[in-house]
Amino acid sequence: MKNDHDDIEETLDPQDWDELRALGHRMLDDTLDYLSSVREKPAWQPVPESVKRRLEQPLPTEPQDAAAVYQEFLENVLPYTNGNRHPRFWGWVQGNGTPLGMLADMLASGMNPHMAGFNQAPALVEHQVLAWLTEMVGMPPETSGVLIGGGTMANITGLAVARHAKAGFDVRELGLQANDHPVLTLYGSTETHGWAQKGAELLGLGNRALRRIRVDNEFRIDIDALRKAVDVDRRAGRRPFCVIGNAGTVNTGATDDLAGLAHLCHEEKLWFHVDGAFGALAKIAPSLAPIVAGIEQADSLAFDLHKWMYLPFEVACVLARDANAHREAFTLKPSYLGESSRGVLAAGLPFAERGIELTRSFRALKVWMSLKAHGVNAFGRLIEQNCRQARYLADLIEASPDLELLAPVPLNIVCFRFAPKDVSPDALDRINEEILVQIQESGLAVPSSTRINGDFALRVANTNHRSRQEDFDLLVREVSEIGKTVVSQLLSARK
Ligand SMILES: Cc1ncc(COP(=O)(O)O)c(C=O)c1O
Repeated sequence: MKNDHDDIEETLDPQDWDELRALGHRMLDDTLDYLSSVREKPAWQPVPESVKRRLEQPLPTEPQDAAAVYQEFLENVLPYTNGNRHPRFWGWVQGNGTPLGMLADMLASGMNPHMAGFNQAPALVEHQVLAWLTEMVGMPPETSGVLIGGGTMANITGLAVARHAKAGFDVRELGLQANDHPVLTLYGSTETHGWAQKGAELLGLGNRALRRIRVDNEFRIDIDALRKAVDVDRRAGRRPFCVIGNAGTVNTGATDDLAGLAHLCHEEKLWFHVDGAFGALAKIAPSLAPIVAGIEQADSLAFDLHKWMYLPFEVACVLARDANAHREAFTLKPSYLGESSRGVLAAGLPFAERGIELTRSFRALKVWMSLKAHGVNAFGRLIEQNCRQARYLADLIEASPDLELLAPVPLNIVCFRFAPKDVSPDALDRINEEILVQIQESGLAVPSSTRINGDFALRVANTNHRSRQEDFDLLVREVSEIGKTVVSQLLSARK
């Protein structure tokens, strides 16, 4: 049966471009208004029950007015994020995003190029960005790289290259199923981020193959213990293949002795992978670069640009010193992606050959525009500013009789707790857990938490280009005030 729609060829372009243009201009103005006044807004607010209900709707089958849909977004979505745009957001490790980065994302989305490679300017932009990032972290110009969604995927991609290069057999062809190969083992400190476990599991190595090496008092890997662990595995017939070094651990911002690890890996013929999710970019801050010295010797290095380059999610980078090893870990030549010396495919698909993804977005544009418009030195200065602010916060904590610093502050992370002398140590975890949620619920600030040597810690990770010194004064005042109220509530509850 023929129906009315059969005669009409549809498109998702608007019927009235002027109408969409006006709506688009409104969206842009509203977003810039929001960002320019974000300091006056709560750092976080829970999604009200009424809004949750409004966000549960049946699958829309028929069109709604785009302006009305936008209005719903303004009311029900925009105000209720996890808060990372705010000047007092210091939870986990999350950048704020930047207004220019947002505009670049809009342009990238408008262009919508397919970034497997191809003979196109956007691919040249990504090549340029990778060359700049390589220079920023001090790796040699021949280094190969690719932009990826996040630190987890960038690290796992580096680990996949390591596994292929160092397995000692054709791991792509044989996999890890055959029983006649030695068990592959890899090493990282107990402070290594959870991506390493996900990676070991996903790559078929198994969580057990990831050896967690103890750390010293400053949360840096104990290289003697590492050397012994490698030796024990070798003697037992296993095949150590990779060491993960940390440039800025997630808990405390500690950096391993990267030069020492590079030396050990060279001696032991192990792949040296560095997780520099945020810490790698300390390399562009002159006063901090010595902390990450040795990072440039990595065989592979992963770092985020959505953390300490503050760019909107998602953008990270993995670099591999040996471009062939990088390619060989992923390259495929199916006939439908056949090579050509002319036409759209002339430049090949280099980015598809450096990771798992085939279809990729033009993430490089926001990095390219931001490095050009702000200059790399601005990022170096902001990273130094974040570390100065962290040191300032640590000094306030040390000067306060009610607060206790729980870990050294080598970079931008501060772990501390409310611990007045007259409160029993047994009660401190519970008190600080309550302080944390009260601070978040008040909308004042968003720190997160971790455990340091078993103790619950309030944790401030400063990758925030909007924070000011006064924000840390306010945090310290509020933690002390809320802490006192929580203690008196606990005491009166016991009576
Ligand atoms: C040290 C470290 N490595 C890896 C990651 C994972 O990065 P992503 O969240 O971008 O996947 C993080 C995230 O905070 C991190 O701090």
